[in-house]
Formats: sequence, C-alpha cells, structure tokens
Amino acid sequence: MPHKESEMPMSIGIHDLALATSHHSLDLGNLADHYGIDPAKFRVGIGQDVMSVLASDEDIVTMAADATARILERNGTDGIRTLLFATESGIDQSKSAGVYVHKLVGLPSTVRVVELKQACYSATAALQFAVGLIARDPSQKVLVVASDVARYDLGSSGESTQGAAAAAMLVQADPGLLAVEVPAGVFTEDVMDFWRPNYRSTALVDGKGSIKAYLNAIGGAWQDYLAQGGASWEDFEAICYHQPFTKMASKAHRHLAVLSGHNPTPDEVAHQLEDTMRYNRLIGNSYTASVYVALASLLDHHEGDLTGSRIGLASYGSGSVAEFFGGVVQPGYRAHLRGEEHRAMIEARVALDHTSYEVLHKTTLPEDGREYQTNREGTGAFRFAGMRDHQRLYERS
Ligand code: COA
Repeated sequence: MPHKESEMPMSIGIHDLALATSHHSLDLGNLADHYGIDPAKFRVGIGQDVMSVLASDEDIVTMAADATARILERNGTDGIRTLLFATESGIDQSKSAGVYVHKLVGLPSTVRVVELKQACYSATAALQFAVGLIARDPSQKVLVVASDVARYDLGSSGESTQGAAAAAMLVQADPGLLAVEVPAGVFTEDVMDFWRPNYRSTALVDGKGSIKAYLNAIGGAWQDYLAQGGASWEDFEAICYHQPFTKMASKAHRHLAVLSGHNPTPDEVAHQLEDTMRYNRLIGNSYTASVYVALASLLDHHEGDLTGSRIGLASYGSGSVAEFFGGVVQPGYRAHLRGEEHRAMIEARVALDHTSYEVLHKTTLPEDGREYQTNREGTGAFRFAGMRDHQRLYERS
C-alpha cells in the first residue's frame, strides 16, 4: 500500500542554535591568585578555565537579543508566532524579559511572548512546549531563548562557578539540526539546594547538597525516560548535561553509566564528554542556557559525522526539576552550525583584572527611580542604556 504523506511521522526540533555571551571575562587563574588557592582546584577540580562577566551595559536582555537577532538574520521571521524566554535572572516580577527582546529584534506584534522559570531547567520545558505547539500546527515556528547570568557573593564557594550566556533556538517542523524524540523522562522534588529570594541579586547555594540533588534528580529522570520507552544507554552517541561547572557533567555521566550497568574510568568519561564541555569551560555557568551551550559545543567541535546519531540532553534545575530526552542529528546539520561565530565571540571577550571584576560585581542599580546611565562598555549589537522612572532602557549600539 502506498505510504500516505499524512501518515509520515513528523519530525520537530531545533533548526538553528545561536549563542551569545558577555563583553568581559575573568580567568580563574586570576581568582585563584587573589584567594591564594591552587589554580588546579578550578581547572581540574571543578573543570573551569574562564568565566564570562557582563559589562555594566549588558544583561540577560542584551545577550538574548544578540543571539535571537542572529537567528532571525539567517531565517527571517516567517511562521514565528511564539517566543518563550527561559531565565532565572529575571529583571522584572511582571514583565517578561522576552518582550524587550521582541522589540529590539523587530519581531511582529503577532508573536506571543512569555517568560518561564524553574532554575536552570526552564529552557528544556520551553523546548518541549514549543514542540507541542508545532505538533498542533506544523506551519508555526517557535523561538526558545535562554539567557542567564550566574552571580554568587564575592568570597563564597560559588564564586568560581559564575558565568553568563544566552542560547537562542529556532524550533520547527523538519528541523536542520536536531529532531527531538518523543520519550522524555522527568523528575521533580522539593529541595533547597540553590535558590534566590526576591530581595537578593546573588544566589544562595548548598554546594555539596546541590551536587547530590542534581545526581538524584538526573538519575530519576533517566529511570523515568527508560520507563517511557526511551532508548538504551548504548544507543547514545553523546550526552549533553547541564553544566554548572563541567566536572558536574562528569559526575552525572558516571552516575547514569553506573545505573546502566557500566563502570567508565574518569579518563573514559572525560573523553566521552570533552566536546560537550569546550564552551562551558570558557563561559562558566549560564544556568538555563548551559545544556544548550553544551549541545552547540558538541555539534561545533565533533570531528566525525554525527548525522543520524542520537544525542541525549540531560537538564537539571535546582529546587528541583530534571528531564532527560533524546534527539537525532539531522542530515546536512553542518550547514546550520555557527562554530566559527561562537569561537570568535568567546575569544573576543576582554579579560578583566581582579580589581575591575570586583568593581563590576559590586555595581548596583538604583532602586528609587532616579535617572541612571550605564557606561558604554560592551561592543555587542544591543545595550542596556540605563534606567529612568523605574524603567529599564535598551538601545541598539
Ligand atoms: N587540584 C585538583 N582538584 C582539586 C584541588 C586541587 N588542588 N583542590 C580541590 N580539588 C577538587 C576537590 O577534590 C573537589 O573535587 P570532587 O568534587 O570531585 O571531590 C573539587 O575540586 C571542588 O573542591 P571543593 O573543596 O568541593 O570546592 P568548594 O567547597 O569550593 O565547592 C562547588 C565547589 C562546586 C560545590 C562550589 O563552587 C559551588 O557551590 N558552586 C555552585 C554549585 C551550583 O551551581 N549548583 C547549582 C546546582 S547544579
């Protein structure tokens, strides 16, 4: 019997993926010197080399707009009816940061915008919601934009795991990069491993507790994934983990391997995850964006042809929610990659000395509505120009 077009399973997933990060960076060797710590603790112990630091005229909106504008430059706006903005560094309790992005990048008014929050996890929820919208109407496309700045108190143990980045994804039917598969394993548990009360600009974290909570949640999500009919461990070419620091991905990978009856050595784990960690080692934690930074890193750096390979995505957000799902790399994916653009962006950051980093870290915005102008520092396409009457002001550079 001839196969009818309407019976063909439709593939939905990521068509294009663009990253953005900050104007500045801080080498963790610099932080180690300042605190008199062995730099190997950072480079080897937590697996981080450099972290991105925002200029005073950058924030989650400018990074998100930068990444989204590059998606639109290549793909146009046809079919886009939704922008889902994932962040845990919200700039307003009411208004979605995505609405500022909508204006900055010139999206039409026929695009709905909403912000999603669940620590580092919400971009994965956004991706799944996008897939659902497109399954209902395959002519529609969805922008999923994750943007975050990870900030901890100076002198705290979390300080070395700061960072900043945005990942913008165009999600659509017949995607160019990665088709998202149906089985997804999820795990939710109320734990206080990491949180940021409304009155704080820096997060609070039970570091060791968060490692345990991450492992427990990702293990639970993996077991649910298998129960949902997911692929087996051996069917994955690579797995991209949420990376608050890259060593965490190694711990999680080993944990899932052991749950699946394997016992990889640390060297084997490091080799298996190497390509997924290249950008995160240099950017630091980017919360919601982190697992998609890992995906970009894998696709941009993997030497062999990944066409048809199944990639696992392991997402974790403290508090906590985890999700594990798979995606299949699409034929011709290399034509959609942005490796040179991403590497150039990371290399172009201006390294800070420790004093300038501390000054930036201590800079606070007025809370009394008075007019405030930021210094012109960043060289990206968009600027956070300042505040007036309790409103944030953005402009093209
Ligand atoms: N050379 C090599 N490794 C070294 C070292 C050295 N000189 N000194 C320490 N290490 C290793 C430790 O053995 C440890 O490795 P292990 O976890 O595999 O045992 C690692 O470096 C970290 O050392 P530790 O003493 O635990 O560091 P810390 O007290 O500063 O805490 C974090 C590290 C990651 C817990 C802390 O930075 C943090 O809380 N970050 C935020 C965590 C987060 O983002 N959680 C969000 C939820 S995912």
